[in-house]
Amino acid sequence: MQVVQWYPGHMTKAKRAMKEDIKLIDLVIEILDARAPLSSRNPDIDELGRGKARLVLLNKADLADETANRVWEQSFLEQGLSTVRVDARNRGDMKPIQTAIRHACREKIERDLKRGIKNRPVRAMVVGIPNVGKSTFINSYAGRACAKTGNRPGVTRGNQWIRLSKEVELLDTPGILWPKFEDEQVGIRLAFLGSVKDEILGMEALSLELLAFLSRQYPEALMERYQFSETDVETEPEKMLRKIADRRNCLLKGNELDTEKAARLIIDDFRSGKLGRITLELPAEEQR
Ligand code: G4P
Repeated sequence: MQVVQWYPGHMTKAKRAMKEDIKLIDLVIEILDARAPLSSRNPDIDELGRGKARLVLLNKADLADETANRVWEQSFLEQGLSTVRVDARNRGDMKPIQTAIRHACREKIERDLKRGIKNRPVRAMVVGIPNVGKSTFINSYAGRACAKTGNRPGVTRGNQWIRLSKEVELLDTPGILWPKFEDEQVGIRLAFLGSVKDEILGMEALSLELLAFLSRQYPEALMERYQFSETDVETEPEKMLRKIADRRNCLLKGNELDTEKAARLIIDDFRSGKLGRITLELPAEEQR
């Protein structure tokens, strides 16, 4: 399968704008998709966020395998990154983030105190590739306290600071990072997640990749969702796709199977969690 790396011109502009924004902040809140934390990460952030406090949110944790969530959390913690698993749609999940922010910024807070600066809020910015849940997170988090503090000098693009608490102010516009996929498998995982345009790979090819992965790693998910037998999950992905098209009445004129429609259905089932909680990759040392 051919995955093309592309980098639209507007991203160069976005990257420049982000560099400006990052100058204003103390803390980078990096949002990753818990189902593929490595693939949904743009390593540029290490360079862009140099010298800043860092917090990693493993978002959409509700859609990912809970055991794998814990493995990933541990892996990031071992790299010295404060990490929290979240469902950004759930306001209840925002509470532990406050504690994590304090932890991630402890050095800055101590430095301030030594200089006699008290109660200067931590300024934070959310970054991540498309579709990882940046806007959802900002809305959920800011929803509680949504007091905009107004424009400040030096803030680019008319950005505003949202005061989340006495301790934290968040830039209301997230920084968009572009997905990076030199590795073909990374491109495929990002397409499963909906972080690259579906047309790039094509639905049918994408669904075949997903079926192949699921039959290896989560055969029970296929058995449950599509009433597959143990023999069914061992057949080639093309056969599985046709079987699903047949069972779900995906038909073209003349009763021919509409495999394109079935492919869309499978990808949607994965994205919405109907196939269960699935993680696409594990840290290198425990690679699937
Ligand atoms: P972005 O700003 O990073 O691009 O992402 P955004 O917040 O727009 O979220 C993308 C989709 O993911 C939204 O679905 C949103 O509801 C969903 N989402 C965000 N966080 C979570 C989470 O923690 N768990 C789950 N299950 N879903 C989450 P959408 O509005 O339906 O858009 P789409 O999926 O149809 O594109």
